[in-house]
Amino acid sequence: MSTQIIRPARILQGSLTVPGDKSISHRYALLAGLAEGTSRLANFSTGADPHSSLACMEALGAKVLHKPDKTIEITGVAGAFRLPAAPLDCGNSGSTMRMLSGLIASHPHTFTLIGDPSLTLRPMERIRNPLSEMGAKFDLTDGHAPIVIHGTPLRAIDFTAPIPSAQVKTAVLFAGLQAEGTTSLSESIRTRDHSERALKAFGATLTRSGERLSIPGGQRLRAIDATIPGDISSAAFFLCAALLFPDSNLVLDSLGMNPTRAARLDVIAALGGRIKVLAVEERHGELIGTLQVNRASAAATAAAPYIINGTLTAQLIDELPVLAAIAPYTANGIIIRNAQELRVKESDRIALVAKNLRAMGADFTENPDGLEIPGNQQLHGAAIDSGSDHRIAMAFAIAALRAPGDPEIHGAEAAANSVPAVVTSLATRAPR
Ligand code: S3P
Repeated sequence: MSTQIIRPARILQGSLTVPGDKSISHRYALLAGLAEGTSRLANFSTGADPHSSLACMEALGAKVLHKPDKTIEITGVAGAFRLPAAPLDCGNSGSTMRMLSGLIASHPHTFTLIGDPSLTLRPMERIRNPLSEMGAKFDLTDGHAPIVIHGTPLRAIDFTAPIPSAQVKTAVLFAGLQAEGTTSLSESIRTRDHSERALKAFGATLTRSGERLSIPGGQRLRAIDATIPGDISSAAFFLCAALLFPDSNLVLDSLGMNPTRAARLDVIAALGGRIKVLAVEERHGELIGTLQVNRASAAATAAAPYIINGTLTAQLIDELPVLAAIAPYTANGIIIRNAQELRVKESDRIALVAKNLRAMGADFTENPDGLEIPGNQQLHGAAIDSGSDHRIAMAFAIAALRAPGDPEIHGAEAAANSVPAVVTSLATRAPR
């Protein structure tokens, strides 16, 4: 296990290009693996999780080449996955396990999907239910991985998502793409829509009418050449860091600005960040732009605790750990509600945030579905437990920037699942 010491900083200035979006990298890897032809993907995520998706595609018969210019070339199986020689290893990645299940369930083989100890604890009924309704033969172990899928032709369903989950939505869309008939899906809280955009980019037909998506089955995909936009969830760590220091000024380029992910920018603005969009363009249905952020004067910040609940909670689900970690430094604090899903992520993120905030001396209340964290507090250095969860390691690397006493992040290597540089760049460069 590696430990990183984060020294307090006084200012955050500079420009930054964050690695490719994890969510989009997963989807492009999976769809390129199924498609006909060779896809060329530039700026693929450097995190371990999307590389688990790539490795599974290789195991299923796609050819994956890592080019010297860091482009990844994927020659797909043209609609016919082969029987893998070994269980499909999804590593730490819930996205890989859930989306892949939908993608392969109609192929005529028996597949076993496994993951690391944390992934093996995460709930998988949420995909078994709709996929079984489509006719998939699915065995779980106590509701968890290992998953055994006995591939069989699928039929279309009309599915109403019981929980807001882009991964479950994607599993159903990927299965629907290859089923007989037209699959419909409704979500009452709209989750990230990268799958919808990616499916269209790979040539699929998919329609939306209000909250209802429809995808005809029996479709073939064709390869694409794409540059993956920078990951706004990774950028959010640096945006939160910029909020901590007056006179911070950060420019982020080639950043994904998909509207279903852009709520994090509204929150940064409400907490005192001044955000300017310097440029924006569309590629493969995704918006990419350049952002500048600096900290507004105290008067511009929210006058009461900032409340995150309902739809906003679902939209910010990956950012809640870092927002909670910096909440004590905000003027009026943050209240997070309806976030029980955080308890079944790579770790119980509510419990781990609480443990680490407590260690740093913060005053707050932990609730079953969230946290109430007053603002205007000073924290101190402590031993931080990442719980082997990348977002906890990164969140507390940011909180540590304002804490005297050299906080130590134990299990900092967990950040490798998404953006290791969030921890390493701060650990090596933060000025005293
Ligand atoms: C993701 C969806 C979210 C998110 C995860 C990535 C995706 O999970 O927490 O990090 O790429 O679709 P849920 O779909 O389970 O909410």
